[in-house]
Amino acid sequence: MDKLIIRGGKRLKGEVEIGGAKNAALPIMAACLLSSGNYTIERVPNLRDVMTMGRLLAHLGAGFHYEGKKAFISTEKVKVFEAPYDLVRTMRASILALGPLLAKFGRAKVSLPGGCAIGARPINLHLMGLERMGADIVLESGYVVARAKRLKGASIYLDTPTVTGTENLMMAAALAKGTTLLENAAREPEVVDLAGALIAMGAKIRGAGESVIEIEGVDELKSVEYAVIPDRIEAGTFMAVAGITGGEITLKGCRREHLDAPIMKLEETGISCENVGNGIRVSGTSRPKAADVKTMPYPGFPTDMQAQFMSLMCIAEGTSIIKEMIFENRFMHVAELRRMGAAITVEGGTATIKGIARLRGAPLMATDLRASASLIVAALAAKGETAIHRIYHLDRGYEKMEEKLQKLGADVRRVKE
Ligand code: EPZ
Repeated sequence: MDKLIIRGGKRLKGEVEIGGAKNAALPIMAACLLSSGNYTIERVPNLRDVMTMGRLLAHLGAGFHYEGKKAFISTEKVKVFEAPYDLVRTMRASILALGPLLAKFGRAKVSLPGGCAIGARPINLHLMGLERMGADIVLESGYVVARAKRLKGASIYLDTPTVTGTENLMMAAALAKGTTLLENAAREPEVVDLAGALIAMGAKIRGAGESVIEIEGVDELKSVEYAVIPDRIEAGTFMAVAGITGGEITLKGCRREHLDAPIMKLEETGISCENVGNGIRVSGTSRPKAADVKTMPYPGFPTDMQAQFMSLMCIAEGTSIIKEMIFENRFMHVAELRRMGAAITVEGGTATIKGIARLRGAPLMATDLRASASLIVAALAAKGETAIHRIYHLDRGYEKMEEKLQKLGADVRRVKE
């Protein structure tokens, strides 16, 4: 296993190219199961989770090849309809194979994704929606076993606007007989991007990005070439890096309209985010001001930016309150930040951060993807050296993070444990 060694205190300056969105690439790769053919998905980041999805597609009989930020997928030979435990346990997003397999082949057996560090993460809404579309679903020794002659359109109300739940049901509805209404659907840009790919494949979808999505099922779809949107969470993470180091970083290739809530909150702390050319120039200040955050479904402040924002608030002037409203246990980074001297108290889903002038480097343990990003953000501003262990968590969602930071002037190196 690798660890990152960071010596903090440098103002990071320069340009960084924002890669494709992990959480758009994963559902779009799964959508290739909906039609037999050859697909080229572009701007796909080179991440562990992408390779895991590729392995899953290959396990199902599809061809998968990744080269130069492109995923080449061929689905003519898909003949297995089971996503096994040993693949699903490494990546919960494997559940995105359920809707397409059921819609295309009438059957699917997908291991129930276990919980993870940030919460129980049930999939009851995915299953409820598929049952309303006529699927017969049983849970058998840790697997979801689903069958359906042909799914039929249905009206489905989602108790929470689940992102992958909306994506699974949108893919299933694309080939159903009749029209499906998804109400209280997730509005994330990644959902909209999946809808874009499905529409390019011939699906009839209206309202993606709104709370009600209408999908008129068709008999078949076709394979496509499609480019994935930039990763708004990678962009937001580098904004926090600029803010906490008091540097100036220009993010190339990201979409400002996907970042309204994080940008507003960062500007509230005194950070400036100025449009320049095809990017955003983010300039930090000598010390950020405290600001409160409540994570909400899109277009609210994204839960995937909560940990990174907390790191920034650790050195803010004043006290900030961060409420995590989406996941029940997404404060695993708090204990690690405290090891750096952060003054954070937690009461249920609310963290109170009393800003201090400077964090101190310390040996730390990454616990989940965004927590590992938050520890890097904190370490870049801390006095002295920080070692972040179990950095494989980071590799799930950030491509060559240490190289991008080195180019911005950070003193960071990856070493074998
Ligand atoms: C997606 O996870 C993202 N993953 C997560 O990103 C992100 O944090 C999350 O959406 C919220 O934005 C991918 O897109 C691959 P949810 P997902 O279903 O779909 C409850 C990252 O860091 N819920 O929207 O699993 C659930 O418990 C990852 O890249 C049910 O109760 O999240 C949670 O409290 C982490 N029943 C809330 O909804 C269900 O059937 C939101 O979960 C489904 C969800």
